[in-house]
Amino acid sequence: MSTIRPEQPAHDAFLDTVLRPVAWDEYIGQGRIKQNLRILLSAARERGQPPEHILFYGPPGLGKTTLAHLVAHELGASVKATSGPAIEKTGDLASLLTNLSPGDVLFIDEIHRLPKAVEEVLYPAMESGTLDIILGKGPSARIIQLDLPPFTLVAATTRIALLSAPLRSRFSGGTFRLSFYSLDETKEILLRSARILKTELDAEACHEIARRSRLTPRTANYLLKRCRDFAQVHKQPLSANVARDALALLEIDERGLGVLDRALLETIIVKFGGGPVGLGTIAAALSEEHATIEEVNEPYLMQIGFLERTPRGRVATEAAYRHLNAKLPASAQEKLL
Ligand code: ADE
Repeated sequence: MSTIRPEQPAHDAFLDTVLRPVAWDEYIGQGRIKQNLRILLSAARERGQPPEHILFYGPPGLGKTTLAHLVAHELGASVKATSGPAIEKTGDLASLLTNLSPGDVLFIDEIHRLPKAVEEVLYPAMESGTLDIILGKGPSARIIQLDLPPFTLVAATTRIALLSAPLRSRFSGGTFRLSFYSLDETKEILLRSARILKTELDAEACHEIARRSRLTPRTANYLLKRCRDFAQVHKQPLSANVARDALALLEIDERGLGVLDRALLETIIVKFGGGPVGLGTIAAALSEEHATIEEVNEPYLMQIGFLERTPRGRVATEAAYRHLNAKLPASAQEKLL
């Protein structure tokens, strides 16, 4: 029996780094964003200046972090990566900023979780490359201004609406919304990942995984890894049937819905007559966090037309009823007649 050798970092986080594209030609999809970024970066490089600050937003797993690293790679710069909740005090940000080298990319993930006081230190740093430090308190307090090394802030968020207007307006390099991938792009990503993982993946197995991947690369890669584990343990090649069995064991259905997605739709349909029902009510019924439902589950359900957000609350669509084999309410049936 083989043993796990700790010097081999074979865990998932390591695999995720291996699967991450490091050059533009390896990055599949988001064509428009790529084109815009390449212009922004080439122009800045020709001028010998760091590009202006960039914001990426969109549902989790679509490649915001990957793009931040690609930006740095394209500039030949190094990345200092952190996240909104990790910067608790203004001093934390001051120390990050003063430790940057000229031309560095500072990547702040989940920037919507940056404390307000920290945000205010960030404004002058973004705008004029300076750090305002307040010395002392009360009437004798003094402000000293430090010049920072030139840098580019690349930030990412799943919740653009939570960013204050002044912060949003300072991303003068551009604000880019990542969208869901097409099924073909998802397949292309899976085939690339399978090549890197040295796993044989035929077209049918690839299709089975892709259609359950929520049109999201992170999910696609996660499912590929789990199917590869399943095939290995069962000593079988990763065929479409093996993929179907592995994914059924993970309770992921043909459209990529997991247990929570289905519970969410069932709650709206069974407990609230199909909606409209408020997010707070749904979250309470499911004992789930609002943020998880809003950021993780809803975007994909809306993308595939199973859920609508209306001013009066969430509504399950006819497609959701059909997917769950639920009986449509009489009012909806009448509309169809
Ligand atoms: N892995 C994760 N996201 C990817 C993408 N957009 N292109 C290629 N591989 C990826």
